[in-house]
Amino acid sequence: MALSTPHGGTLVNRWNPEKPVENIIKEIEIDSMALSDLELIATGAYSPIEGFLTKEDYESVVNNMRLADGHVWSIPITLPISEDQAQAVKIGEEYRLVYKEETYGVITVSDLFEPNKEVEAELVYRTTDLAHPGVKKLFDRGNIYVGGKITLTKRIERQQFQSYYLDPAETRVIFEEKGWNTVVGFQTRNPVHRAHEYIQKTALETVDGLFLNPLVGETKSDDIPADVRMESYEVLLKNYYPQDRVYLAVFPAAMRYAGPREAIFHAMVRKNYGCTHFIVGRDHAGVGDYYGTYDAQLIFSNFTVEELGINLMFFEHSFYCSKCENMASTKTCPHGKEHHAILSGTKVRELLRNGEIPPSTFSRKEVVEVLIKGLREHALKA
Ligand code: ADX
Repeated sequence: MALSTPHGGTLVNRWNPEKPVENIIKEIEIDSMALSDLELIATGAYSPIEGFLTKEDYESVVNNMRLADGHVWSIPITLPISEDQAQAVKIGEEYRLVYKEETYGVITVSDLFEPNKEVEAELVYRTTDLAHPGVKKLFDRGNIYVGGKITLTKRIERQQFQSYYLDPAETRVIFEEKGWNTVVGFQTRNPVHRAHEYIQKTALETVDGLFLNPLVGETKSDDIPADVRMESYEVLLKNYYPQDRVYLAVFPAAMRYAGPREAIFHAMVRKNYGCTHFIVGRDHAGVGDYYGTYDAQLIFSNFTVEELGINLMFFEHSFYCSKCENMASTKTCPHGKEHHAILSGTKVRELLRNGEIPPSTFSRKEVVEVLIKGLREHALKA
């Protein structure tokens, strides 16, 4: 077995720092979500996508979870601008893509269209409720979408954890150097708690390596900040994981909270990073009660294994059972709920923010210490 083939066959590379941008006078201002998407398109994390979606691709993704050419793709990667901005944009021309007065890339505009956001929300997020953070973001962004191929001309500078920002081409080399033929990817926007550790290690029993790939782009304000999480991953890996079987690197995308649709997107991206397997547990990428516990697993039945090109590893809801005296799941434990250590993410964040320690059956002591310290520092800065 070899590392997975990138989605669409080849890893997209649209990074060209040599491309002259000075002569391009016109510009489009982009937000931080579009900036992270620009970089991820260019580095091939979103292969086979080469630019922000055109109307044809967008409608196909929204309606059929496929690009117009048939490749599986579940989340529209769009470049929204305001109606005012759109007045000055012409199809066929090149524009610099500017964030906070810095040019990061260029787009050759091939399409300019007004999306039906109600339909996008309903089909992608399964709700139009503005209380849903992904839907709110969708409606907050501009009402006109610009489609077209991009070139990234400047990389985003990272203040912290620079060594954890790796492109798919780099992680592929690393996995090969490690001699891994099978690698399971793990998406998370949270600290790694005992349930996460349990499903990761259960998966690792059957594959060569674990790629711990936390999402560190924009998340909702009450999620634990990425820098605090990074420290918690380091301390956990150092103390509880075999160093030669796990690799940590970040996924710098924005969180969409699109549950099932986002699970497919997360799997395709990890395939591009070189993973052969991908973990989907309970309520993957969900928020509140918008999605059923296993909807993010069920949605994969719309596709064949061949067209996905990555093996899914599904896990039931996991917890510590005091009767089993072990981590277990609804699939492996016969005991009642009263014996299970289950805390909601919200509850844990509340405990941590108050400096209270969640039980060791929920989270490792070393992780908790880092989280409490980190959250305290953030609170002082705020
Ligand atoms: S996510 O939004 O990034 O998916 P989270 O960091 O909570 O959120 O989850 C990371 C992965 O672990 C997801 O695949 C999720 O389904 C899975 N997961 C989280 N908690 C549990 C649990 N208690 N039991 C089984 N799977 C879980």
